[in-house]
Amino acid sequence: MPSDASPPKKRLLIRTWGCQMNVYDSARMADVLAPLGYAPTELPEEADMVILNTCHIREKASEKVFSDLGRLRGVKEEKAARGERMILAVAGCVAQAEGAEITARAPYVDIVLGPQTYHRLPEMVARASRAAGAVIETDFPAEDKFDHLPETAAPSGPIAFLTVQEGCDKFCSFCVVPYTRGAEFSRPATQVLAEARRLVAGGAREIALLGQNVNAYHGAGPDGREWGLGRLLREVAAIPGLARLRYTTSHPRDMDEDLIAAHGELPQLMPFLHLPVQSGSDRMLQAMNRGHKAADFHRVVEKLRAARPDIALSSDFIAGHPGESDADHAATLALIREVGFAQAFSFKYSARPGTPAAGAGPQVPEAVKDARLAEIQALLRDQQEAFNRSRAGAVMEVLCTGPARHPGQMAGRSPWLQPVHFDGPAQLAGQIVPVRITAGHPNSLAAEWLGGAAKAPPSHQEIRAA
Ligand code: 5AD
Ligand code: SF4
Repeated sequence: MPSDASPPKKRLLIRTWGCQMNVYDSARMADVLAPLGYAPTELPEEADMVILNTCHIREKASEKVFSDLGRLRGVKEEKAARGERMILAVAGCVAQAEGAEITARAPYVDIVLGPQTYHRLPEMVARASRAAGAVIETDFPAEDKFDHLPETAAPSGPIAFLTVQEGCDKFCSFCVVPYTRGAEFSRPATQVLAEARRLVAGGAREIALLGQNVNAYHGAGPDGREWGLGRLLREVAAIPGLARLRYTTSHPRDMDEDLIAAHGELPQLMPFLHLPVQSGSDRMLQAMNRGHKAADFHRVVEKLRAARPDIALSSDFIAGHPGESDADHAATLALIREVGFAQAFSFKYSARPGTPAAGAGPQVPEAVKDARLAEIQALLRDQQEAFNRSRAGAVMEVLCTGPARHPGQMAGRSPWLQPVHFDGPAQLAGQIVPVRITAGHPNSLAAEWLGGAAKAPPSHQEIRAA
């Protein structure tokens, strides 16, 4: 192709907050803009376009966007004084929730786009370049954005993310997701499998299937039937060359028998599951509209452990949901003690405008929320540290992701998603290598490389035959 046919080089900076779905969306936005000549940069000063991909889940996450916008305004004005243009876009869930309020508060923003419209970015960029006013696209368009996105570029490392499901119909009392991400939607299985094959061909060794409610997956299968997540996992696991598989985030209510069975059948499915429970109190679980009791969660955990004895669990907890008493809080601590978590996230309840809990009473005083959160976090920290320590001496396979901070040291991920550090050559990046754990630290594992790389993962046929 003659060089004058290629678009002029421009620089794109994307900042991402929030969940892994946003990380995936940011990568796809970069894919959509690449044909327009946008190449990545880390520096706002050299960016022709900056996209802030935002998170609305808690108030703190939302507020960070506006402080970042304030800083970028200065950069944009300096560039304008030099006769250079910088397009400033706000994407993601804050964009979806606040829409035109963003440009009212920050009139120098050029584009506001919700998570369902990023396939229309090129058109929005063209409109923003022409128009004086802001371009706002926060509807839920009739067309499927996944049908209008370019095929994924090569994954940036051995771990790839793949969105299979979006949105949520659960309407937990505290959560903005059903409003910002909209109704539950599952991508057809054929589309997911094609993307997974492209990722593996591009060098991915591990794929994490993503969805706000990923185990509610019910995509159309090529056989004309609806596939659940268990079925989808089995087919993705069968892709030759794919060594590891995960999925996140799940709801306890949607852990069906087939999905639990898949944990026992698929060696590629890693023995670590993020399963948010939010509270250990039945009263609170009901107030939160979670649709299950603490005992149901215990039963799911029991079944998972029966299917895959080495499975470790992660979860999310909220401290201080409206109406939470000392007894409710104690029930959460009791559940944490009984189940035992390898890792977990915990948050102070944050009232989100428009959600049922925001108007519910009585709201828990800040100081009480702080104290309860501190107790939950101390317990979870102890459990995580104990879990990491318990790995000392173990031999395990680690997916090497690349060099660590110290020279000569490599970093990787254990099957339980723990960061692992060990001395080894740079050529190990992207390989699954055997290591012996020498020490378990609060947030990571130290290891020694045992030499060589692990053998290729077994094929689906081998697993079925075994
Ligand atoms: N306040 C505090 N935590 C919240 N989460 C979701 N909404 C809120 C809120 N309003 C937490 C839940 C969820 C995780 C992604 O964020 O624990 O599982
Ligand atoms: Fe939010 Fe998860 Fe509840 Fe859906 S299931 S409303 S995403 S917390």
